[in-house]
Amino acid sequence: MRDYWQRKPLLIRQALGFAQAPIDWPTVQALAARDEVQARLITHWGGQWQLEQGPFERLPAARRKRWTLLVQGVDLYVEPIYQLLQKFRFAADARLDDVMVSIASDGGGVGPHWDSYDVFLLQAQGQRRWRIGPTKYPEKPPALVAGLPLKIMASPTFTDEYVLDAGDMLYLPPGWAHEGVAIGACTTLSIGFRTPTREELLQAWFADQADRLADQGERYFDLRERQTLTPGQIPNRLAQTLAEWIRSAEPSTAQIQDFVGRFLTEPKPQIWFKPPIKLLKPNSFIKTVSRTGVQLDRQTRMLYRNQRFFINGETCECPPGAWLTELVNERKLSGVKLKEAVQNVKVADALYQWWMRGWINNESAVRKA
Ligand code: SIN
Ligand code: CO
Repeated sequence: MRDYWQRKPLLIRQALGFAQAPIDWPTVQALAARDEVQARLITHWGGQWQLEQGPFERLPAARRKRWTLLVQGVDLYVEPIYQLLQKFRFAADARLDDVMVSIASDGGGVGPHWDSYDVFLLQAQGQRRWRIGPTKYPEKPPALVAGLPLKIMASPTFTDEYVLDAGDMLYLPPGWAHEGVAIGACTTLSIGFRTPTREELLQAWFADQADRLADQGERYFDLRERQTLTPGQIPNRLAQTLAEWIRSAEPSTAQIQDFVGRFLTEPKPQIWFKPPIKLLKPNSFIKTVSRTGVQLDRQTRMLYRNQRFFINGETCECPPGAWLTELVNERKLSGVKLKEAVQNVKVADALYQWWMRGWINNESAVRKA
């Protein structure tokens, strides 16, 4: 973190020793056929870059050259990939995004480009040749080829070249030019990080504020207004009231902290939680989880700061405690600790609600992809 994070690339040979690839092609192809999974097919045939969005029922034959399929958020569906993502929790969860998996035929790749976030490119199977180089991002982002459906750098300059074998990993800070070309068929995992832009934050903030104020239903009224001789002029009282509304929108520190927590835990729009298949009454639920413990669902985003806890875009209403901190940091809580925590009915209530919504699970068995 001190020497490389956000500063310079790092090649780690045999970062992870794979006895076998953590994911196979049929699994990636099956995910690419699902509606809720974001998948892209990029081909470079006849010197032309083309991009197609999924879902995909059919894909090009493996022996056809120069295509690659990219599937986003694979950690949410495939347990070994979810487990692999956990190894990257040396960075805060608030910064972790997802694991993208790409499968490529010989010569396949997405072309020379840069990303605006940190990425670990982990070779899962086969070989890929990476060429990388610094750019003037973010002060002067490099020019792109105009008119293409994907981001291709107009004149990339590379300073280093590496061939990655299965288990090798390359870290790139934001803005580094890179191009990865498959040497034979290969699979690459991109462990991606996220950072909000100021615009994203403010858009969400103002939408949230608007929702809150909508409940209050305050509206301008002018029962004392006189007849006007200059109908085109904005009335004084109207202009002043609106200006005052804008100026007085100063949020309290508590409101800001609450919003930031909800913003950072907001699930992506395509995320749907599955409620438990077998519903239990609150008492049986508590009895069961006191034995089995609970774990956060793979899709659950949970964070905390000071004594405020947030889960999937909501503020936790239950009383905080060591059990809650442990649940967030470990993403699971043992039956013993849980049994103690649920002595408080508010804790028991909150856990039951989260379980009913599919935010936490009591199955110790791994859910099928
Ligand atoms: C790939 O896996 O081919 C693309 C990953 C990247 O360049 O970010
Ligand atoms: Co990239």
